[in-house]
Amino acid sequence: MTRVLRSLKEFRGARDALSGSVGFVPTMGALHEGHASLLRRARAENESSILSIFVNPTQFDDPGDLANYPSTLEADLEIAGREGVDLVLVPSAAELYPDGYRYRVLETDLSATLDGPHRPGHFEGVLTVVMRLLQLVRARRAYFGEKDYQQFLLIRGMADAFFLGTEILPCPTVREADGLAMSSRNRRLSPSDRARAALLPRFLRESATPEAARAALLEAGFEVDYVKDVDGRRFVAATIGGVRLIDNLTRGPDALP
Ligand code: PAF
Repeated sequence: MTRVLRSLKEFRGARDALSGSVGFVPTMGALHEGHASLLRRARAENESSILSIFVNPTQFDDPGDLANYPSTLEADLEIAGREGVDLVLVPSAAELYPDGYRYRVLETDLSATLDGPHRPGHFEGVLTVVMRLLQLVRARRAYFGEKDYQQFLLIRGMADAFFLGTEILPCPTVREADGLAMSSRNRRLSPSDRARAALLPRFLRESATPEAARAALLEAGFEVDYVKDVDGRRFVAATIGGVRLIDNLTRGPDALP
């Protein structure tokens, strides 16, 4: 049976009562099939699984984005139950940040590239909240979607750098039938922008160069933050209808999707 824990005291008690390996999936809620695939893997590869749902205020560089972030707790808990999650941690900001965010995790190299310059403070907020969650959950393994590939690399680097003892595992991006990467933000697209959003992975995959992908996106009405090839992977961030989307694909014969 899935247990929902809102206070850290209750959570710690429930966590201590679990024996064997724990698989952890941290999220900001508004769960979709991509999250469900992470939960299935956490359950399959470990004796217990833990999900956290926390819309982390410190990682939102845009207050409008935080205010509009979808909240669907009832539906999220239904998915957690269906996927056999043992514990769901739904902490308060006051408890997760007892120091008021005076203590932070800062990375000084990779976080200054790709999304970093476009979202000041974003990765600092992500790393700091994930550090806190990993300390609380003490998982054997934690699972992250490859859609946020830069985030995955930064979290894995942090876990190594601070000897956290949790293995950080990437999981393939789950896509809609038309190729759009699943994301909680997709819910905010109007029907016409949702249709156009499928051009993003298509141009990313089909363009010969990042410059050609950028030109095609601009032509289709996207505002483009960047398209860049790094280490055999092509990364993009672009906005359509006021919704900022990110994606990445590996290049070459095994290219997605
Ligand atoms: O990818 C997310 O949903 C968030 O950045 C994470 C890792 C849960 C931290 O708040």
